[in-house]
Formats: sequence, C-alpha cells, structure tokens
Amino acid sequence: MDKEEAVKENLDSWDELASVHAQGSGAEFYRIEQWLAGESKLAPWEIEEVGPVVGKSLLHLQCHIGTDSLSWSREGAKVTGLDYSPSAIREAERFAGMIGVDDARFVVSRVRDAVESLEGEEFDIVYTGRGALCWLPDIEQWASVCSSLVKQGGILYLEESTPMINALEPMAIEGDSVFGLRYDLFNTEAVSEVSEGSYADPDYPGSRRSHCWEYRYDSIINALIANDFRIDLLNERDEIFFDPFPEKLVESRPNYWKFKEGETRFPLTFTLKATRL
Ligand SMILES: C[S@@+](CC[C@H](N)C(=O)[O-])C[C@H]1O[C@@H](n2cnc3c(N)ncnc32)[C@H](O)[C@@H]1O
Repeated sequence: MDKEEAVKENLDSWDELASVHAQGSGAEFYRIEQWLAGESKLAPWEIEEVGPVVGKSLLHLQCHIGTDSLSWSREGAKVTGLDYSPSAIREAERFAGMIGVDDARFVVSRVRDAVESLEGEEFDIVYTGRGALCWLPDIEQWASVCSSLVKQGGILYLEESTPMINALEPMAIEGDSVFGLRYDLFNTEAVSEVSEGSYADPDYPGSRRSHCWEYRYDSIINALIANDFRIDLLNERDEIFFDPFPEKLVESRPNYWKFKEGETRFPLTFTLKATRL
C-alpha cells in the first residue's frame, strides 16, 4: 500500500479514537478520572531519566489527547504538544483548560511537517513514544526532524515497546504456551491489520484498518547518530504501558503491566535518551 494512503487511513482511525479515549469507553484505560484528580501519566523512570524540567521547553511529538504532555506541565515544563489528529488536539486543549494549565500549546501537524508548523522553534527537550514510532513511515525522516527541533545540547527522550512486541503472539504448542513470531522483523513494509475495538477498549464497536512500521534498535539508533545525536542511555524494562499479552501480564502500577509470577521474562519496553550535538 502507498505510504501516504496508509498514513491517511491511520489518521481516520486516530481521529475517531481520540474522543473514545478522552471521554468515552477508553477513558478508564487512560485513567482520565484519576489523571484529572492529579495522577501522573509518566513513569517514575521517565521523570528520573529526563532530569529536571522546571522552566524548560518540552515538545511532545504525537501527543494524542495530551494527558502525557500535561503531566510534564505538572512537572514544571513549558509544553508544546503536536499531533496530526485534530480531534486529539481538541481533547488536549480541553484537558489543559480543565486542569488549569494555561501555558501549554497544542498544534495539529504531521511529524514530517513539525519544523515548519512550529516555525523553526527549537526545544530543550523533545519527548515522544509509548506507541508513537510505529505510526511513522520513515524513521530517518523522523530523526532528521527531531534533530532540527532539539536545541544544541538539548535532549530527545522516548519510551517505546521493544521492536518485537507487536510481532510476538502467544500460542499453544502441545499444551505449552509459547511465543511465535507473526512477521519478519527485517521487513520494511507497513504491517497492515484490521482490528476490533481499541487497545483502550477492545469492545469498542467496529473495526479499523491500521498500518504500522516496526523499527529495530539498529534503525532507530543509527538514524539518530546520523542526525547529530549522541546516545546517552538505552534501558530495557519488563514493564509495558499497555497489555499486549493479557494471559501473561498483570497490572504492576497505574498505566503499566508486567509479567505474572513464573513467566519467562523478556524486555517489553525500552527508554532512550540522546543529546543533540
Ligand atoms: C498511541 S498514540 C500516542 C500515545 C501517547 N503516548 C498516549 O497514549 O497518549 C499515537 C498518536 O500518534 C499520532 N500520529 C500518528 N501518526 C502521526 C504522524 N505522522 N504525525 C503526527 N501524529 C501522528 C496519532 O494521531 C496518535 O494520537
């Protein structure tokens, strides 16, 4: 499928799901009530690894409904959120008003066009992830855009699921539950799938077709190195921000799941921090 058509079809789906996640049947997964009451969407390791943010400018790429972005506002950052879904940005602006954050700004734009949309502004911190990179058709272009958006000496920080999470599928073989690989991890084409509901509400009516690109560590890291970033840290964890394997994982803390006792573990997510040289 043509990349542009894939990106457009993904947008239709995000535009529909944003309000489901913000104020519909996905709001429980997103812990909107708790978040409005003050709970952070950020993991403790994100706050620690990013370091002090008070007074710093932070751009959140693919900010969705703004709950992660506004959690950074609560930490003291001056936040700009960017997402290509107008409906997601409307929800983010509504939430900013609801929690009284008046210095956050939300912009409708594709990541590809972010430098132009933000009129060349550079930020102390560019933050992204938790289900973001797989929606982008070109990881080298993403790294180049990020390079233009981070000030010299500033940082790029992301948390993502490890490259094989979407490709793995639990299956039973002779009564044993094992993981099988659903597709080739060296494939560079989009993986297109029709799925029911949303990760935030599997029972949400209707099915949507989505197109994802899976990036291995080498493509992400080499794209950053080629675009003037120095990798400062790469940490893998056995906790993840959604539940891809309900029979294997259990909720570990708000917004995170980990392996049940006795399961053989493998890395579920990674964080990466890079400095713009
Ligand atoms: C899973 S959400 C991001 C997750 C976020 N951490 C959260 O849960 O709030 C993915 C977001 O990426 C946005 N997105 C996908 N492709 C994009 C693109 N090419 N440019 C800008 N935003 C994009 C979607 O609109 C969606 O809001």
